[in-house]
Amino acid sequence: MNRSDPGWTRIIIEKPFGHDLASARDLNAQVHAAFTEDQVYRIDHFLGKETVQNILALRFANAIFEPLWNRNYVDHVQITVAEAVDVGRRAGYYDQAGVLRDMFQNHLLQLFTLTALEPPALFEANALRDEKVKVLRATRRCVRSVRAQYQGYRQAQGVAPDSETATYAALELFVDNWRWQGVPFYLRSGKAMAEKVSEIVIQFKHAPHLLFPQPAGNPAPNALSVCLQPDEGLHLRFEVKLPGVGMRTRPVDMDFHYAEDFGAAALPEAYERLLLDALQGDATLFARADEIELAWGIIDPILESWSGQQAPPLAFYTPGTWGPVEAEALLGHADRAWQVGCGEHA
Ligand code: BG6
Repeated sequence: MNRSDPGWTRIIIEKPFGHDLASARDLNAQVHAAFTEDQVYRIDHFLGKETVQNILALRFANAIFEPLWNRNYVDHVQITVAEAVDVGRRAGYYDQAGVLRDMFQNHLLQLFTLTALEPPALFEANALRDEKVKVLRATRRCVRSVRAQYQGYRQAQGVAPDSETATYAALELFVDNWRWQGVPFYLRSGKAMAEKVSEIVIQFKHAPHLLFPQPAGNPAPNALSVCLQPDEGLHLRFEVKLPGVGMRTRPVDMDFHYAEDFGAAALPEAYERLLLDALQGDATLFARADEIELAWGIIDPILESWSGQQAPPLAFYTPGTWGPVEAEALLGHADRAWQVGCGEHA
């Protein structure tokens, strides 16, 4: 079945692709024993989401964002993929995997590379994937992290009563290159959180000099929120003058919502798009072998740091909240706080 003569043969592989770097390498070797890389389509369904593809349109079909998209203007980047659902009936799988394998090695690192990558010369599978690979190669291996478990997880059916599996994680990543040197990327994801929301926040630096009186301290810095789901769109926060006497300012939002501009049914299911692309032989939105291995190369050391003597303590959080308080300290700066800028959130 692996012969492409006559016609073509392709294989689509769903995640998880391995459970660590060694097993991913083994799996790639087994797959390559029967298929060439251009026949292999490793699915990450986040890449099939319109809003995720729109990160590239936002950055590279506009002239106004890219000049600011670097260490000169960006204070830090936050990537949140919060889920309201708990582990449900998937404990058998989940208790072995945990949040780093289930969400970070794939979905969160995909969002991270699309946000951080350099403009590819062409919108074409290998050109794009080369740029993602460069980001992963430049990502520092020494990572500060928080691991946590929601209260009640150990009582779920199929979970070991003394399970140390993290259902929530937050990481601080740095990309050691000219564009991003010194800019932290904060990634967090968890189950049983306050609501289902996925978004990327580009938080810009403060205005360099304050002209206007600010009784309540610095004005909020500008932020661009890329709302991936459920209220898909974009929000740009900036200061405006408060009407009336004096010259005080207040932040407001400029919004774009897919549903308003394109209709509520405009966004196809991620898998529709990806399966069609695979049939048409377009691998742009699929993970390449080296990309998968590099992603595991970032996750493995964190998993190792979570076991053994020096492991950071497992924190606990109440279901239905935004996660453990320990995650606030990760941001390391009084001026930084986790945000959900898409819609009316806590
Ligand atoms: C899957 C994970 O890959 O993504 C699940 O295995 C998670 O644990 C799901 O719930 C989230 O996908 P979405 O599209 O609902 O954000």
